[in-house]
Formats: sequence, C-alpha cells, structure tokens
Amino acid sequence: MNHLELIEKAKQARELAYAPYSGFRVGAALLTKDGEVFLGANVENSSYPLCMCAERNAIYNAMMHGKKKEDFVMLALSADTVEPCSPCGACRQVIHELLPSDTKIYMSNLNGDIKETTPNELLPFAFSEKDLKK
Ligand code: THU
Repeated sequence: MNHLELIEKAKQARELAYAPYSGFRVGAALLTKDGEVFLGANVENSSYPLCMCAERNAIYNAMMHGKKKEDFVMLALSADTVEPCSPCGACRQVIHELLPSDTKIYMSNLNGDIKETTPNELLPFAFSEKDLKK
C-alpha cells in the first residue's frame, strides 16, 4: 500500500469520529510491515479532557491486535483543515514512544494537501526512556 492509499484509509476512519463537542473530525491509519491497516478516529466526551485523538486510537488499536513497534511502517492522518492536519503534542509524545524513528508520517487535509514527516521531526529533544535513567 502506498501513502496515498493510506491517506484514503485515514479519511475513511475520519467518518467514524465521535466529535459532537468540537465538530472537528480526525482520522488516522497505521500500516504494518505485513500490509495490515489499523484505523483510529477521535472519540470525544462531555468531560472534555477525556477526548482521545485519532492517532493514538489507531496506534492503540494496532497494539491491541498484537502489533509491536517494529511492525509499524507508515502513519497517515487527515482532517478538514487549511494546512495538512498536524498531530497534537500528546500524540507526538506517543508517536515518539511507540513508532520506529524511520516511520513515515503523512499529514493531510481534505483538499489533497500532504506533508511528510517523521517522529523525530515532530518531537525533537523528546522525553524518553533515556531520561528516566539517573
Ligand atoms: N484531535 C485529534 O484527533 N488529533 C490531533 O492530533 C489533534 C486533535 C482531536 C481531539 C479533539 O477531539 C478534536 O480533534 C479537537 O481538538
């Protein structure tokens, strides 16, 4: 599967968003080495801080199907934004932790604009396992 097809999957995932409070629907799709695709969309809550982003739902969905960091090769996300939709700070931290550093990440919008990036570009100087060591 190429990145354009994965972005289409992210757009399909977006249709599953539960976003009655913000009205801002986001979809994500995560591709594994063996060609499997795991979807995620944002799921909101009337208790606003409990909202969960599309990217994290996609990653956790894959992990709950037994997939591991080394299995992941590409992540796409999409929303109805002017610029290609950018992952929030919390998602950047989770992406840095759970996706390999060479994972290709495609941010996109509904107009066909696409930006390619990586976990390290999204979160330089990330807090990680190494920082827990004394
Ligand atoms: N959202 C995502 O799903 N991913 C992001 O990276 C940015 C924000 C969701 C959370 C919330 O449901 C809505 O978009 C508005 O912030």
